[in-house]
Amino acid sequence: MSEASDLSGPSQDTHPLIDEIPERLHEQHIFTTKTFGFLIHPNIPIPPRSSHDGSPTTLKIADIGTGTAIWLLDVAKTLSATTTTPAATPPTYQLTGYDITDSAFPAPETLPPNVSLRTHDMRVPFPEAELGTYDLVAVRFVSSASTRREWGQAVRNIAALLKPGAGWLQWIDSCNFALYNSVPGTSRKACREIYDSVQKAFVPVKGEGDGDGDEVVLGLMMREAGNVRREAVFRDAGLVDVHEDVFSTDRLQEPGLQLRDKGTRNVIVCFLGCLEGLVGVEGSGWSSERIERVKQEAMREIDQGVYHTLDQVCVVGRLRSLDD
Ligand SMILES: C[S@@+](CC[C@H](N)C(=O)[O-])C[C@H]1O[C@@H](n2cnc3c(N)ncnc32)[C@H](O)[C@@H]1O
Repeated sequence: MSEASDLSGPSQDTHPLIDEIPERLHEQHIFTTKTFGFLIHPNIPIPPRSSHDGSPTTLKIADIGTGTAIWLLDVAKTLSATTTTPAATPPTYQLTGYDITDSAFPAPETLPPNVSLRTHDMRVPFPEAELGTYDLVAVRFVSSASTRREWGQAVRNIAALLKPGAGWLQWIDSCNFALYNSVPGTSRKACREIYDSVQKAFVPVKGEGDGDGDEVVLGLMMREAGNVRREAVFRDAGLVDVHEDVFSTDRLQEPGLQLRDKGTRNVIVCFLGCLEGLVGVEGSGWSSERIERVKQEAMREIDQGVYHTLDQVCVVGRLRSLDD
């Protein structure tokens, strides 16, 4: 983690920046893509469904909070392998990943020529030259725990990148984490300690949907108080054709994938990464020794069948034009 929290309030920094482990992100990418069954939501017409007038077209795609660029690179590979009808001129693609830090970026020489990576904080407006130029902007697992107000601001910044009338936003994030036993009499204590500590340090206390913008509507650890109306955040940012899918991680029952076991360990490692950022922060109560102890105990609990579920949320929408 490169930013530590000030623990004087309930949760001053709800955006922990952890030193991401590329292998964890790659495994998470495989699980997420399997759970959703798509990289790009089927409501989004990319690749284009029909041939156009024959003139060459370049479509622009961005990935915000790209991390290791795993989603972007998979999209680049998939689109380059997509065949079109012989009469159609296939579009070419220009893909750009943005992240607040370049710490997980792959080396530039390993990237395909149509993929580039840049640093940018999505909470800040994007460069003028990029505005209104994208056919698709995707965001995945960037909001740690976002209130309606702060998520709305990020959605507005990102929606400004889209071509009016034609550009789509796809936002994927997790919600509603829960821990379960699968064997009677086994312990969830260490896993619970990790979950509760992340909740306490990184999730704002207000979250009861009081409608003033401070309620958590998306991201890490939240339990929805009811219908939090995420689609309204998209509509308020000028998006139309808004649709939300929510898939539970237990949607997929593929024994070979061992999703329950591996998915639970993946999230525990992610949460321990968040807590590592609290080591050395006055009053946090976290030390390297405590991290190591709960890690070992939590992994033993998972060996004994403890597992989690979470909801994978995907919200899509198209930027409105004057004709809409
Ligand atoms: C859990 S990783 C997800 C990476 C990637 N989206 C994926 O699905 O594999 C979260 C990423 O979001 C980035 N991030 C966090 N806050 C951000 C912000 N305000 N603006 C841009 N990127 C941010 C982090 O640096 C990190 O690379």
